[in-house]
Amino acid sequence: MFETVKIIFITKGEKKEFQVPAGTTVLEAAHQNNIDLEGACEGSLACSTCHVILDQQFYNKLSPASEDEEDMLDLAFGLTPTSRLGCQIILTKELDGLTLTVPEETRNVSINNN
Ligand code: FES
Repeated sequence: MFETVKIIFITKGEKKEFQVPAGTTVLEAAHQNNIDLEGACEGSLACSTCHVILDQQFYNKLSPASEDEEDMLDLAFGLTPTSRLGCQIILTKELDGLTLTVPEETRNVSINNN
């Protein structure tokens, strides 16, 4: 049977809820659903643009970040105690309902629309 996991993104003050297949990463889930989460290095732990801020209850359920993830997180703009890198979070049934905030700013140079 095909298991799905609920994920809720909070982006620009709006809550967006999706069902994604178990085993999907947060970054993939964002891209599949047109959520504006950059992920410049496509999940190879070489950027910090997939930075997300988790609700505490879900943060506590995740296995601790690897040293490489910690190093990259240190570079993320607006780091919080419940920050993680979206490409490193794999959605499993235990994380059903995962709620996270997409930060409005990342450290990559923003494009000036003027
Ligand atoms: S996409 Fe670059 S570290 Fe996650």
